[in-house]
Amino acid sequence: MKRVTLTEIYRHPIAQKYVKRAGMAHAISVAYHAFNFAAERGVNPDLAVKAGFLHDIGHYTWYRNGQWDYNLYKENDIHAIKGAERAHKLLIRLDENPVSAKEIALAILLHTDSYLPDRGIRREPLQEVVALADEADEEPGGTHHYRFISEEKALHMIKKLDEKIEEHTLSQDNENQPAS
Ligand SMILES: [Fe+2]
Ligand SMILES: [Fe+2]
Repeated sequence: MKRVTLTEIYRHPIAQKYVKRAGMAHAISVAYHAFNFAAERGVNPDLAVKAGFLHDIGHYTWYRNGQWDYNLYKENDIHAIKGAERAHKLLIRLDENPVSAKEIALAILLHTDSYLPDRGIRREPLQEVVALADEADEEPGGTHHYRFISEEKALHMIKKLDEKIEEHTLSQDNENQPAS
């Protein structure tokens, strides 16, 4: 089965519309952190990068009287739930392997526990990598959602990440070849 690339995901109009809502620069930066944490911890970097890139795709903008309202957000936010579903639908549309699509969706569902009544979640390694990657890019006051990145730079970074994933997969395959 051909790998669905991050570039294909990035270019899809659904990703363009909803990932931008919570910040393209943040999404790309989390995807890079996810790659590094995944490589360190022996987690599949393809899944980690996709989940990292799509983790905030479920964001909704909570406005009151034309102003973003943090209290409204805190009370009503379910972006991790919505994001898991939205990302899953997008990945299946792009012909992602259904088992991978489910794992990515679960990592998105659990990337934050701020919406859950009991915060004692136990995460599996992929889910942990995505949560750590998000934390690594957080800035006080949520300013990480508003950093700017040009379309050109975004696409360049996304393509680079696809190359890194492919190189990593190749090197793993070579390591796993029996010595002749
Ligand atoms: Fe989030
Ligand atoms: Fe985030």
